[in-house]
Amino acid sequence: MVSLLFPGSFDPFTRGHRDIARRAANLCDRLYVAVMNNSSKNNVFTLDERVAMAQKVLSDYTNIEVIGSDGLLVDIFKDLGCNAVVRGIRSETDFRYEAEMALANKMLYSSYDVTLLPCRDDLSLISSSIVKEVGALGGDISGMIPAEIAEEVKLRLRKGRT
Ligand code: PNS
Repeated sequence: MVSLLFPGSFDPFTRGHRDIARRAANLCDRLYVAVMNNSSKNNVFTLDERVAMAQKVLSDYTNIEVIGSDGLLVDIFKDLGCNAVVRGIRSETDFRYEAEMALANKMLYSSYDVTLLPCRDDLSLISSSIVKEVGALGGDISGMIPAEIAEEVKLRLRKGRT
């Protein structure tokens, strides 16, 4: 049984994230999508809200389970007995970041490994940061966010406007 782990801060979950989750789920028996915290980012949505959004978007996929954790990635990797982590990359900058993170995680746990999936061309400009910026300024983010969560994300980002 092959199980993969797709971690991220998912603040909020984008169409790009959904595409990586869908493709990763096709590569394994079980895909865990782990909603986590990135200490270099300020999240707009709480961990529970981000878990609920990911669950809503991925509810049709029978081999995907969404979990939330405010701990270390290697700890859930180890606890769940995963074969590898999956991450999507949009650019060379993403690749460098992923290579560094993989090295650090491997130092923490020698059996750690990662698979990188290049993102789809038409989704390559979407990021949670762009969604937050455009949404907070009242721009149209419907093309960037899965339809299931579009309204709640729009409302929430607009509420944050001063
Ligand atoms: O979507 P992101 O923000 O690029 O995801 C980064 C994330 C959450 C996977 C990373 O920050 C992470 O693994 N956080 C959990 C804490 C941890 O293990 N940090 C060490 C990373 S080397």
